[in-house]
Amino acid sequence: MKRSSIIIILFLSDPGLRVFLPVVLNFCTHSRTAVFIYVESAFLFKWWKEQPRLVRSKFRKLINNGQLELISGAWSMNDEATTHYQSIIDQFTYGLKAIDAVFGPRGRPKVGWQIDSFGHSKQMASIFSQLGFDGIFLGRIDYQDKKIRFETKTAEMLWRASDSLGQKSEIFTHILYNGYDAPKDICFEEFCDFREFFDFPQNLWENLIENVENQLKIYKTNNVILTMGYDFSYRQAEVLFRKLDTLIKYGKALQRNGSQYNLMYSTPSCYLKAVHESTTKLNIMWPKKFDDFFPYASLPTRYWTGFYTSRPALKRFERIGNNFLQVCKQLYVLARLNNTYRTNLATLQEAMGVMQHHDAVTGTEQQHVADDYAKLLTEGLNKCSPIAMTSLNTLSSTKSNGSKQSTIPYTSCFLRNISQCKLTEEAENFIATIYNPLSRVIDYYVRVPVTKGHYVVVSPNGDELQAQLIPIHPHVLNAPGRKSKATLDLVFVATELPPLGFKTFYVTKRSKPKLSRNHRQSEIEQKTFVKFSRINGYLNKIIINQKAVPIRQEFYYYKSASKPKEPSGAYLFNPAHNTPIKIAERVKNKFYIGEVVKEIHQTFNTWISQIIRIYPKENFVEFNWSVGPLPSTNRTRHSTEVISRFVSSLHTNATFYTDSNGREMMKRIINWRPSWKLHVTQPTSGNYYPVTTKILIRDPKKDLEVAVLTDRAQGGTSLHNGHIELMLHRNCLKDDKLGVGEILNEFAFDKPLVVRGSHYLVAGSYLTPSNESIASIEKDIAQRKHLEAWTFLSKTNYDYTSYKELYNMEYSGLKRALPKNVHILTLEPWGNKKILLRLEHIFEKHEDLILSRPVEINLEDLFAAFKLIYIRETTLGGNQWLDENKRRDFNVVGKISNRKNLSNRRNVNSKFIINLDPLQIRTFVIWIKSLKTK
Ligand SMILES: *[C@@H]1O[C@H](CO)[C@@H](O)[C@H](O)[C@H]1NC(C)=O
Ligand SMILES: *[C@@H]1O[C@H](CO)[C@@H](O)[C@H](O)[C@H]1NC(C)=O
Ligand SMILES: *[C@@H]1O[C@H](CO)[C@@H](O)[C@H](O)[C@H]1NC(C)=O
Ligand SMILES: *[C@@H]1O[C@H](CO)[C@@H](O)[C@H](O)[C@H]1NC(C)=O
Ligand SMILES: *[C@@H]1O[C@H](CO)[C@@H](O)[C@H](O)[C@H]1NC(C)=O
Ligand SMILES: *[C@@H]1O[C@H](CO)[C@@H](O)[C@H](O)[C@H]1NC(C)=O
Repeated sequence: MKRSSIIIILFLSDPGLRVFLPVVLNFCTHSRTAVFIYVESAFLFKWWKEQPRLVRSKFRKLINNGQLELISGAWSMNDEATTHYQSIIDQFTYGLKAIDAVFGPRGRPKVGWQIDSFGHSKQMASIFSQLGFDGIFLGRIDYQDKKIRFETKTAEMLWRASDSLGQKSEIFTHILYNGYDAPKDICFEEFCDFREFFDFPQNLWENLIENVENQLKIYKTNNVILTMGYDFSYRQAEVLFRKLDTLIKYGKALQRNGSQYNLMYSTPSCYLKAVHESTTKLNIMWPKKFDDFFPYASLPTRYWTGFYTSRPALKRFERIGNNFLQVCKQLYVLARLNNTYRTNLATLQEAMGVMQHHDAVTGTEQQHVADDYAKLLTEGLNKCSPIAMTSLNTLSSTKSNGSKQSTIPYTSCFLRNISQCKLTEEAENFIATIYNPLSRVIDYYVRVPVTKGHYVVVSPNGDELQAQLIPIHPHVLNAPGRKSKATLDLVFVATELPPLGFKTFYVTKRSKPKLSRNHRQSEIEQKTFVKFSRINGYLNKIIINQKAVPIRQEFYYYKSASKPKEPSGAYLFNPAHNTPIKIAERVKNKFYIGEVVKEIHQTFNTWISQIIRIYPKENFVEFNWSVGPLPSTNRTRHSTEVISRFVSSLHTNATFYTDSNGREMMKRIINWRPSWKLHVTQPTSGNYYPVTTKILIRDPKKDLEVAVLTDRAQGGTSLHNGHIELMLHRNCLKDDKLGVGEILNEFAFDKPLVVRGSHYLVAGSYLTPSNESIASIEKDIAQRKHLEAWTFLSKTNYDYTSYKELYNMEYSGLKRALPKNVHILTLEPWGNKKILLRLEHIFEKHEDLILSRPVEINLEDLFAAFKLIYIRETTLGGNQWLDENKRRDFNVVGKISNRKNLSNRRNVNSKFIINLDPLQIRTFVIWIKSLKTK
């Protein structure tokens, strides 16, 4: 018989921790004392806030003696398909900081626990390695992959999480044998009938040993995990622990009789410690993994690729939440606000943490829960508004006329997506303050809804700008719930917005056109063209970045499968046929050609329309789609899953690329997986992948790349040569029976939901070196869309001249722009006279001849409002000094040291000079001193 450690890992997946066990033990020693792990900080602190001192001190004791281990530590167990890395990092930072503040270093998580997310991304693994964690535990991987891994003893591996970051991004990865469920027949929950077993521990023991023996065939060491938990478990925790105590005691007695099994309570960290010891002892060489775990299928008929698109409005709202959160945090720091607004900021940070959950942004929650999430996020946005307003008032105030200044009410119009904004519709004079959250200078197209009239837009330096009025598309005018007098959109370019800064534009409405002043004529050569078929009105060609690209764009929908096949649902995408149905044979187009923007308003049918936009200064084509109300229940009786399909002449050899949480690109090949042989059961949904921000195709012969950037997470694929397909909106009139218990059929204003969004299409050469690579064009656009310049609107009674005398109309938070390949990922208040600064290199290795090189930045004298006193680097989560972090190194073969240090000495520099390698993210706590304002 083998001698094995059987480790019981206890966890709770819903709130309601009620037991406290008094016995003391040392970390990871063989002990009979119960231990417990806890994952989601949102729940932990919800509970913690309500606890009396005595309970808190007991809880602290359990943490200090290792009986209670906090793992992962993020605010929620985030989804990995539809989330953006910026928001994932934020919610880890927030949760880990809260843990650090209350429990100190003993509470610091060391392992990742992603047991329920529906597939796993490479970027997430990379984040875990940069958090300084020792390993990660995963619950859900494709059933075929899992079978192969179990048969070949490769359920544990070293995941190389980033090609650019290389070996230091590797992280030990464990695929759990039984998900997070208790072993079959060893369940002691209310909902299991366990009494009978309890009189016969030997029966139970035999079951358990059978489970253990099965696992020993799968994992390489003699350590085996038995997870003890499930959804809604531990409602009678005392009972459960007592039963386990008895079982463990029985195991000990057997050991005295010669049994080789050692059953004990343990945690994931202790398991990793044991596996690490075996690795060194047995010189185990772990298999490596380079791809990701998408898409996720739990059965041949169950591809969880519908949730990539489910609840598209909530998915967009989440992105807006991130956009405003970053703006808010930056302004907080730049205006040197004191602690007064910390809880305001926390409200949005927490709402965004919750939004990342694998049943939040994914759209896999019941309607009333989705409504609650939207409400939480709305509250968060509302709480952040005073921060933005106070900061902007501080930054725009000119000391000389201080006493005469009144407070400007900077507001945001969140319904500009349906061209609705009371302020701009009604005010005779208003100001638009455009804040740029990027660390470089950008131009931004401002768009506000207005009523008929003549508008004059004046820039901070007194120039009158070209302003264009464009009719609002009837599909938008008639959108359910729209309450607006606006019939036109006013569009103008806010040029050269300073880095982390703003410019204020003064807008006046007149009844008559003003003749005197001449527009400053912009002389821009149009770079991008679109051509349409005379026969059916479809787009058929784009000229962009010096390339002519024959391309059509069409809308289709899939009907969901029905009995006996499984239907689509919030999670699953299960089309009845692999060929979707075309929406319309002909398109009606209306052309609005102006100096600022050219728009083609397309109408496909009563519920799909689109505006194609080209801007003289931009090298992309925008496809602003509106979908809904989807034809619903009675007439059609089937689910409707709408896609936009771009059909080009590229020869793409069944290959396309999608992003991993908005960062590294992943190569995808139809009906193929990089690390295992796929048996194809679902030729459409089995080839869908999460598109967080970007999908692209390439033709090497033509030296042509076509990329589509999205404004929210969507499912996407390229099923045929030259195609790009993205799913925009869906209703599913049957539940897929995976937990939601509801059909997915969103309503708003008593009508099936209408959703509006944008795709940005870029095309160009990718092989020929040029001074502006296609990758750099795409990244530039992606950044400007993800962290969009924020439009603050305010009424004003001052005329332009007085306003200009009283207020700064232009402000720059940075004294100089940062290089194009560097991004300020985080700028946030971190306590008294401290800030958290996270810098990232946004290029992968080999993406761009020049921009992919390592880059050096000097932070000294960079910020306008403060001076840096001292700087210290932390792990990605900001909760540990980098030079104090030691990760277990599972790459032991041929090595002496078994701990690796994340810190890179070469890069540590006390003089505020920071080096960044391709895709590197570096996090710093910075002590600052405010500069005297002028
Ligand atoms: C250990 O062996 C003794 C003697 O054979 C036996 O009486 C006892 O029941 C065994 N204990 C267990 C737990 O099986
Ligand atoms: C913080 O700043 C606000 C103005 O923004 C001020 O009213 C308040 O008194 C300050 N609080 C502290 C504690 O300094
Ligand atoms: C503002 O201050 C400047 C210089 O101090 C002065 O010339 C100007 O008249 C003041 N404007 C108003 C509106 O008070
Ligand atoms: C569907 O049909 C039922 C009964 O015919 C009717 O009461 C209901 O209003 C209809 N619903 C819709 C969305 O048309
Ligand atoms: C097409 O892809 C296959 C498999 O990925 C590869 O073996 C083949 O060389 C590719 N063909 C071309 C023309 O690129
Ligand atoms: C417009 O934005 C709001 C807030 O983000 C969102 O609730 C709504 O669904 C959006 N409307 C459309 C038509 O997309």
